Amino acid sequence: MDKIFVTGATGNIGKYLVKYLRELKVPFTAGSSSITKQEYPTSRIDYEDEESLRLAFKEHNILFLLTPDSENSMNWVHNAIEAAKEAGIKHIVRSSGIGADAESDYFVFKELGEIENIVKNSGLNYTIIQPNSFFQNFATFQNQTVKNGAVFLPHDNAKVSYVDVRDVALAIATVLKEADKHKSKTYVITGGTAISDQELLDEIGKVLNKRISYISVSDQDTIDTFRKYHMPEHNIKQLISLYQADRTGLTGLVSPDFTKLTGKESRTSHVFAKDYRSYWK
Ligand SMILES: NC(=O)c1ccc[n+]([C@@H]2O[C@H](COP(=O)([O-])OP(=O)(O)OC[C@H]3O[C@@H](n4cnc5c(N)ncnc54)[C@H](OP(=O)(O)O)[C@@H]3O)[C@@H](O)[C@H]2O)c1
Repeated sequence: MDKIFVTGATGNIGKYLVKYLRELKVPFTAGSSSITKQEYPTSRIDYEDEESLRLAFKEHNILFLLTPDSENSMNWVHNAIEAAKEAGIKHIVRSSGIGADAESDYFVFKELGEIENIVKNSGLNYTIIQPNSFFQNFATFQNQTVKNGAVFLPHDNAKVSYVDVRDVALAIATVLKEADKHKSKTYVITGGTAISDQELLDEIGKVLNKRISYISVSDQDTIDTFRKYHMPEHNIKQLISLYQADRTGLTGLVSPDFTKLTGKESRTSHVFAKDYRSYWK
């Protein structure tokens, strides 16, 4: 039976992926740089340390490869692929992002596309997962602004097919369960409908019984705010280019891939808001 190594296992996608793999009874080891002992096998890895990757990947044949947003992602993916080859991994399932395209004019899509090309040219079997932005960003990254009742984004009236991160993880678990069937495929994982930020905030407002407003701001104001909070310049560049792409409608597309993979309808903004209510309390 296949044995999977899950990177990023403590992150937004990873923590649900581990849950679904356990439910599906798929054998795996969960890895990250700070992971602690769990009821399932775990292994500490550091993308900077190829030896830690080689040792951890041994005796696994599938690698779920997720790297955090960082200016080092490209190097980390390179290190992971070299280690994977030496450890005998046969198939990489790469967690990427919607719009990934090495030829894109948008920085974030170009970078994700270049990383996908490293995976595609590795000589190993691969599957690419391209999720849209998560609803959950409004429970984590935008937590305080939601609590304050006003979310400031340079989105104009953009509609985005936001997706629930639990659906992203379920789609990935479904692929990992039978990776051979998904060789050389790319799946775009979106929510079932494109919505504006105000529509999403209205759903959150309903469960909190208060008005939460979306306030359209300029790119420059957003950059200034991110700098005030010491966000790395690389991540600012990623996010601003994503917001620019959002405004063109590129991330408003609704993909059938989640339903095709899982046979389920994707979670709605209403379900997300209800399930994450405690985050804004
Ligand atoms: N947020 C969105 O809306 C969205 C949408 C689409 C795509 N994406 C993409 O999804 C990816 C991020 O996924 P996520 O949100 O699930 O990640 P995340 O929550 O940021 O988690 C990152 C994971 O990487 C691990 N990690 C960090 N540094 C490491 C290192 N040096 N060596 C080994 N592991 C390390 C972290 O655990 P430790 O700290 O324990 O190491 C954690 O498990 C990015 O590529 C992003 O572009 C995000």
